[in-house]
Parts: sequence; structure tokens; C-alpha cells
Amino acid sequence: MTTTRAVFLSERPADGDPGPEHFEVRDLAIPERTSGQLLVRNLFMSVDPSMRGRLGTSEMHYTTNFQVDAPLDGSALGVVVEGNGEVPAGSYVRHRLGWREHAVVDTAAATVIDPRGIDLHHWLGVLGQTGFTAYCGLVRAGELRSGDEVFVSAAAGAVGSTAGQFAKLLGASRVIGSAGGAEKASLLTGRLGFDVGIDYRAQPIGAGLREAAPDGIDLYFDNVGGDHLVAALTALRLRGRIALCGMISNGGPDSPPIDHLMNAILKRITIRGFIVRDHEDLRPEFEDRVAGWLDAGELVAESTIYDGLDNAVDAFLSMLRGGNVGKMLVGLG
Ligand SMILES: NC(=O)c1ccc[n+]([C@@H]2O[C@H](COP(=O)([O-])OP(=O)(O)OC[C@H]3O[C@@H](n4cnc5c(N)ncnc54)[C@H](OP(=O)(O)O)[C@@H]3O)[C@@H](O)[C@H]2O)c1
Repeated sequence: MTTTRAVFLSERPADGDPGPEHFEVRDLAIPERTSGQLLVRNLFMSVDPSMRGRLGTSEMHYTTNFQVDAPLDGSALGVVVEGNGEVPAGSYVRHRLGWREHAVVDTAAATVIDPRGIDLHHWLGVLGQTGFTAYCGLVRAGELRSGDEVFVSAAAGAVGSTAGQFAKLLGASRVIGSAGGAEKASLLTGRLGFDVGIDYRAQPIGAGLREAAPDGIDLYFDNVGGDHLVAALTALRLRGRIALCGMISNGGPDSPPIDHLMNAILKRITIRGFIVRDHEDLRPEFEDRVAGWLDAGELVAESTIYDGLDNAVDAFLSMLRGGNVGKMLVGLG
């Protein structure tokens, strides 16, 4: 085999808003494998909000930008087709060369996964970077305490749906989530164990949060920024905490003004941003705990899975518009 198929960036979106016209599936030469590398057949790949930032030229994001006329990359999970003494053929590995069907991966850049009898795709979702982000955000950035009342935004999404459930499992007394649309809002309470689900499209999030938590909240897990962050600053109690995870609503002309931050002073609020990769020391305890919760049936791991590389761009664009429940993945098997 000398070539594989991969999604290339054919053009940068001029206004930062990607469309199908900016991508193309093309053949990609498979490089010669050295003894320190693995040939991997990808089975699942992840599409993530941070990839939107990587389509631009700004260096503000926490990974490198995509290059025009080069293949995209991102988290993937695959099976080793040609291995070496360290990682034999047949092993499952997680790595960063997604958006393609086959990849030659440096052994040092591959993490061998023991699926422990759990469906493989969960190792890119609730047991992968998604779940780990939720865990680090709550435990480290948010310093979750027993009895906390917690608000999670984008709560029907990948990180949000796990953050809400983890918060409950780790001792929160009450968890409120927000999501776009009545169906997602009722999924939060009906299936994912949230105490309240707010449909932020049906009413302003500030009003929804006031109604859901008239006495305030202790911790806000922020996936959205903008109006959600302002609503949380207003709802937080004295010495409340914010774990800044992401800002998918990101700017735009209608962004609320920053002067709401005065609330952080008046209420002595701790606001802590975090990047998941800084917290690798928590990985073993995270995997043990989450595998245990899944085994015990205490955790619902939602995912939306598109089929095939030709649908990967649709999966990405749909996720940005809220077309996913739980982790958005593409099956390449
Ligand atoms: N700090 C870190 O290390 C780290 C690591 C991974 C991810 N993240 C961040 O975590 C957040 C969630 O990522 P994810 O992978 O779990 O994605 P996700 O939540 O599964 O998907 C994105 C969701 O965002 C919601 N959304 C889109 N536009 C919105 C808007 N204007 N206002 C409110 N909600 C909007 C949509 O849900 P609705 O239908 O509910 O609108 C959509 O389903 C992102 O901000 C991401 O950048 C941070």
C-alpha cells in the first residue's frame, strides 16, 4: 500500500466560518515506515471545536494551525497493521494523525490502549481527551467541593455531558446544564442525571439560570463564554469558582462587554483557565475512576458517530452548529 485517503485544507475560510468548500478528500502518499514507527489503520477520529481556530492564521490557539494543501490532523484511534518490538501488530493505539484512513505514527507519539472490554470509541470520548478535559476542569481548575451547586454550559456536548455527570459522581449536590433546543435540554434531565436543563435558545441564559438557581451557584464549568459567562458571573455566590474550558460562542459583534468582570472582584471569584494536556499526572486515576463508573452503569457515555472519511467534514461542521449529542466522532473502520 503506497497511498491512503486524507482530508486536506484546500482554502482558509476568509471570515473564520468554515464550509464544505474549504476542504477536499485527496490521496496522500504513505511515507516509508522506520523501525521506530507504526503503520496504523484508523478506526475512529475526533472532530473538535479547537479545529475551527486552527483553520485561521492566528497563533492564539493551543496547537499549530492547519496548512493549506496539507492534510488536517487530530485525535484518532486505530489498530496497528505493521508494528515493531515495542508495539506489535494488532495493538490499539491513540495518536494525533486523524483525518486520514491510514497513518505512519512515531511509536513515541502513540498511546497503547487496553480497551478493558469497553467499546473502542469511548477511548476517544468519555475515556479519552473529552472525559479527561471534564475531569481536569472540575478537579483542578474548578476545585470541585462536596455539596457544590454546579452550572455546565454546552452540557449536551462531549465535554459538557461528562462534566455534569462527573460533578454529580464527585459530590456536587445539584447540577444545572444549558444546551440549545428543547430536546437537548430534556435529555440533560431525562438521561444524563442533571437536575435542571436550560434551553438557552428558548430564553436568555441569564433568566434561565436565575430561575434554575435562585440562590446562586458555586462553580461554573464554561464551554461557551459570551452570554453564558456573564450569566454565571451574576449567579455565582461569594468566593465562587469558574473553570474556563472553552469559548465556542467566541466573540462576534454581539458579545457582552467585559465589564461584567467587576462581579469577580465584588464576589472574590476565582477564574481559572486550563489546558488539559498540563494535567497528565491525573490520567491514571481518571481512567480507573471512569472505567469503574462505566462498568457500574453509573455513567451515560453519549456519542454521535458519522460514517466514513467522506463525511468527516460534515461531522465537523455539524458539531460546530450543535448537531451532536455527546462526543462527535467519525468511524473509519
Ligand atoms: N481547555 C481544554 O483543554 C479543552 C479541551 C477540549 C475541549 N475544550 C473546549 O470544550 C468545549 C466543548 O468541546 P467539545 O469537544 O465537548 O464540543 P461539544 O460540546 O461536543 O460541541 C460543541 C457544542 O457547542 C455548542 N455551541 C455551539 N455554538 C454555541 C453558542 N454560540 N453558544 C452556546 N453553545 C454553542 C453546541 O451545542 P448546543 O446545541 O447546546 O448549542 C455544540 O454541540 C469547547 O469550547 C472546546 O474548545 C477545551
